[in-house]
Amino acid sequence: MLYIGIDLGTSATKLLLVNKTGEILNSVSKEYPIIYPKSGWSEQNPEEWWNAVKTGIPELLKGFNGKEVNGIGVAGQMHGLVVLDESDNIIRNVILWNDGRTSKETEYLNTVIGKDKLSEYTANISFAGFTAPKILWMKENEPENFKRIIKIMLPKDYINYKLTGVHACDYSDASGMLLLDVKNKCWSQKMLDVCSINNEQMPELFESYEVIGNVKKDIADELGISTAKVVAGAGDNAAAAIGTGTLGNGKCNISLGTSGTVFISSDKFGVDENNALHSFCHADSGYHLMGCILSAASCHKWICDKIFAETDYNKLEQEIDTALLGKNELYFLPYLMGERSPINDTDATGVFIGLRPDTTRSQMLLAVLEGVSFAIRDNIEVAKSIGIDIKTSYICGGGAKSKLWRKILSAILNIELQIPNAEEGPGYGSAMLSMVGANEYKNINECAEKLLSLKDTVSPEKELVNLYEERYNKFKKIYPAVKELYKNIKE
Ligand code: XUL
Repeated sequence: MLYIGIDLGTSATKLLLVNKTGEILNSVSKEYPIIYPKSGWSEQNPEEWWNAVKTGIPELLKGFNGKEVNGIGVAGQMHGLVVLDESDNIIRNVILWNDGRTSKETEYLNTVIGKDKLSEYTANISFAGFTAPKILWMKENEPENFKRIIKIMLPKDYINYKLTGVHACDYSDASGMLLLDVKNKCWSQKMLDVCSINNEQMPELFESYEVIGNVKKDIADELGISTAKVVAGAGDNAAAAIGTGTLGNGKCNISLGTSGTVFISSDKFGVDENNALHSFCHADSGYHLMGCILSAASCHKWICDKIFAETDYNKLEQEIDTALLGKNELYFLPYLMGERSPINDTDATGVFIGLRPDTTRSQMLLAVLEGVSFAIRDNIEVAKSIGIDIKTSYICGGGAKSKLWRKILSAILNIELQIPNAEEGPGYGSAMLSMVGANEYKNINECAEKLLSLKDTVSPEKELVNLYEERYNKFKKIYPAVKELYKNIKE
């Protein structure tokens, strides 16, 4: 039997073909653009996602028997607002998770409705990227579009809807809408009222490994597959956590994708009293706390592609003199799309500080790798402040493929990083969810025990840890010093 795991990412959709023993038989990646209609805004056309899946699956199955596909799981970029009208047409482009246009609505939710009430209803406060402030933005700025909304869904749910015709969502992804009562796993009527929407517009809720339906016959024929079972799937971070083995209580996964996340699994519901970390449901049916930085590997991509106009990332990395590690005088704030955790500031932008006439591009690249790692450290510090001391963590995502970056991150965090056998976090995790849904395995734990192992471990190097401790203390001073300036230069 074959299983397909799909990761609907921000820069590309990645598809994996996996057999029941977890061997990756093939993979395909389909890229698409991000649309930036205004500074700090980001959108995508869901048709591009569906196209990536529709062309990706037949390509993935070349040389294999599509009739043997028994299950499909989709993981997706979280929080994006997908809205359909009565004829199932997409009403507008999707406003993505890293879009900062909703600062006014976020402020309204956090101050007028109030953080206490939001926490009571949803276990979270509002951040600009979450879905509820986007709904309020549409209501205010595009009332005609708002009135046409018949179905509200998240990015991966759109793919599931196209595959099965079922309007569904899983708890992990739904948590990021600020519409879910996370503790009790149901839509919060209070929040639906705040957003002037109703239950009929919302998807039916499932656990991530539950089957929502089968691939429709006409779509199956078009894709050359059987009418396979489709599970509810998960938000990409929860799926990545499944794919790395971050299950049960107190485990951690760090993802260096377009965004960067620190994901701490828990079998009990809990909140960060400071609301800096999100409190969401996990795809293993438990819960998790998560900090998310909006630009991680995307900063790396930005400096290589846009600034250095160099596609050979390895070559650029090899130019970095490792003697410079921990001694770089250049600092970088990675806030290219504003920042979510822990500073929650949509006005923040990227900053280099320490440029000199002899600054090299290696120093700039190193500062980017370090700046992203320091921003991840900010989230580890929040976890520490609420009593969660992380000593080891799994790591996944495109950025985690860089040995140099792993070494830097491990030293900056003073954490041992474990590299799982399947580095394709969300895609692999969603394939695992589909195996559980198709009864190949009893539950996620059994599936993880059978399929997952470690490929490598990176231990923090003592000398680097000390050097980076000093650097981090300096890095920490930069944002408070420029915070006010961000507002002033915007006005
Ligand atoms: C998590 C978040 C990002 C996206 C990226 O809250 O916004 O990690 O899911 O795909």
